Amino acid sequence: MAPITPVSVSDYRELARTRLPRQVFDYIDGGAYEERTLAENVAAFGAVKLRQRVLKDVSRIDLGTDLLDRSWSMPVGLAPVGFAGMFARRGEVQAAKAAEEFGIPFTLSTLGICSIEEVRAATNTPFWFQLYVIKDRGYAAELLQRAHGAGCPVLVFTVDLPVLGARYRDARNGVGGSLLRQARASAHMALRSQWLFNVALRGRPLDFGNVRDAVPRARSFAEFGAWIAGNLDPSMTWKDMEWLRANWPGKILIKGIVDPEDAKLAMSTVVPDGIVVSNHGGRQLDSAPASLAALPAIRDIVGDNTKLLLDGGIRSGLDVLKALAMGADACLLGRAWAFALAAQGQQGVAAMLETFRREMHVSLALTGSTSVKTVGRDILA
Ligand code: FNR
Repeated sequence: MAPITPVSVSDYRELARTRLPRQVFDYIDGGAYEERTLAENVAAFGAVKLRQRVLKDVSRIDLGTDLLDRSWSMPVGLAPVGFAGMFARRGEVQAAKAAEEFGIPFTLSTLGICSIEEVRAATNTPFWFQLYVIKDRGYAAELLQRAHGAGCPVLVFTVDLPVLGARYRDARNGVGGSLLRQARASAHMALRSQWLFNVALRGRPLDFGNVRDAVPRARSFAEFGAWIAGNLDPSMTWKDMEWLRANWPGKILIKGIVDPEDAKLAMSTVVPDGIVVSNHGGRQLDSAPASLAALPAIRDIVGDNTKLLLDGGIRSGLDVLKALAMGADACLLGRAWAFALAAQGQQGVAAMLETFRREMHVSLALTGSTSVKTVGRDILA
């Protein structure tokens, strides 16, 4: 049952379930195939035990950190999540404002409903931009120019989506299916009157912001999905990183690495400013290892000077602390912010972040630690 006052990520998830049409909720909540990796991402955090320490003067706790040329009020950022403008009206703008207010980075997806320019106009702090490389390299280069022009300092370059993962829930719900199946899904949308009025009617959710010019004729999520599937570039290799370097003057984070061999290749070719250890939230290769499980070996390879961010399965401030202890510099949230946004818009994302802050504060104190900058393996049991 949906909670009266949502507190945890699972509360926001339940509230989002009552607000969103089923196909939108499942698009956020679901993963690839049997959703094993999705489940393991979460379970991996449950398996890590912390040392409970006492009498260590934890009267001053510092959650702040400095990474990638900015200060963060806590080591948590918002991961790129496509189509957030379908979860709430002008959703990307609402989430970017919540992140700005909180002093943490927001990442705008290539597939944002709100464009780079719209998010730029609504915020004062530079946000990050995430790129999927589409076959039309000229168009991809233009996207990079737009992001740079808008002052985005960091490019999150996603490499784990050469093809779209097979997501059974989307297929069952008629996303990308026949007109009849989509019509059935639309009938369910009509039951969510608040969403229908606020988002579908007043939120322009089919105005595919960043790639609007490339898909002028897409009139539905399904048509847009088909365009994506046909326009991702599966021929990309590490050699294409020269193209990336030539077209992006700012910092680069490579997102979507869980294999040590790939981390090695990243370090010898792109030499990125950082890596996001990620399996796309279990939405791509089902049975890929949980992000947390992959983290220590990747830290060993990249050494101490390359920033490592981790996403996948983070549902509390306690999880963030565990990721830091195992070698991450910071974490990115995916579904956590998507659900909070769907449940309560900007204010929901801000309140969810406040929960993370509280949880991190308490768990740091109870492990006898005072700063996220010095958390290490010694807090693990
Ligand atoms: C994503 N993710 C994603 N990643 C990316 O690089 N570009 C994108 O457009 C999207 N879109 C997207 C949509 C939705 C609904 C979800 C849930 C996820 C992946 C995302 O950035 C991140 O890697 C995962 O969400 C992290 O896992 P958790 O936190 O959701 O468990």
